[in-house]
Amino acid sequence: MSSVRHRKPYRASPASVPSQKSDTETNDERRDNLAENPFVPVLKVLLLLIVINFLVSYYITSTFFWNNDFRLLRPRYRSFVLLKTLHRTGIPELAQSALLQVLPKSSPIFASTFFSFTFPRVFSDATLALYDGSDPDLPIYVGLNGSVYDVTESDRTYGPGGPYHHFAGRDAARAFVTGCFTTDLTHDLRGLDPVAAGKDIAGWKAFFEKSARYWYVGDVIHEPIAGSPPGECQGPKRYGD
Ligand code: HEM
Ligand SMILES: *[C@@H]1O[C@H](CO)[C@@H](O)[C@H](O)[C@H]1NC(C)=O
Repeated sequence: MSSVRHRKPYRASPASVPSQKSDTETNDERRDNLAENPFVPVLKVLLLLIVINFLVSYYITSTFFWNNDFRLLRPRYRSFVLLKTLHRTGIPELAQSALLQVLPKSSPIFASTFFSFTFPRVFSDATLALYDGSDPDLPIYVGLNGSVYDVTESDRTYGPGGPYHHFAGRDAARAFVTGCFTTDLTHDLRGLDPVAAGKDIAGWKAFFEKSARYWYVGDVIHEPIAGSPPGECQGPKRYGD
C-alpha cells in the first residue's frame, strides 16, 4: 500500500516542485483509501448519532448535554436513572406480582437489582452500615443528616483506607460541621449552633447533589438519639492534623 508515501508532509523543494497532475493523483488516492477503510462509514454514523444526541437534548432540555448532567457519562448513574425511571412506571412491581404467581418468593430473581430497587430508598443505621465500601460488590453511601448519597465513584476517597472512609456507611452529619473525625461521627447535632450547622449541612448537601460524581439515593431513618451529646472532640481534630 502507498499509505506511507502520501503521509509524507507536502513540502515542495525547489528541485522537485510537484506537477499539478501528481498532486491530483495523491488526492484521488487519498479518497480511494478513505472509501476502502471500513471504519469510515462507522465513524460517520457515530458522529451523526452524537450530533443528533446534542440536537435532541437541545430540543428537550434547551441544553446541549441533558441539563448539563455529566453524571450521565457514568455507566452506574445511567443504570440508576434507568431503574428509577422504570420503577416510576410501576412496571417492575407489575412484573414482580405477575411472577409471584408462578415463582416461589425465595427465587433469587426477587433479590435482583431490578426488583429490589426502590427510590427513594429507606435505610436504617444498620442497613446503611453495609455500604461503607468493605464489600467491593456493594456501592458506597454517605449519610448526611438523613439524606443518603452514592459516592462509589470516589472509592479511593471514601473506601477502606481512604482519607474520608469515616463518612462511609453512616450519617456523621456532626463531623461535617465540626471537622472532628473521631468522636463526632454521629448525626447528633445537639449542642451545635443550629444556624451555623444548618448552613454547613446545606452546603455539603449541595456539594453531593450538584457533584458530577455523586447522587442522592434515599434517606436514613435513625434510632432515637439517646444519652448526652458528644462533648469536646477527642483525638486528632481533623484527618492529617
Ligand atoms: C470541617 C472540616 C472538613 C470536612 C467536613 C471535610 C470534608 C471533606 C470531604 C467530604 C471530602 C471529599 C470530597 C469529595 O468527595 O470529593 C474532602 C476532601 C478533601 N479534604 Fe477535607 N474536610 C475538612 C477539612 C479538611 C482539612 C483541614 C484539610 C487539610 C488537611 C482537608 C483536606 C482535604 C483533601 C486533601 C481532600 C481531597 C481528598 C481526596 O479527594 O482524595 N480537609 N474533605
Ligand atoms: C436535619 O434533619 C432534621 C430531621 O429531618 C431536620 O429537622 C433538621 O432541620 C436538619 N438540620 C439541619 C441542620 O439541616
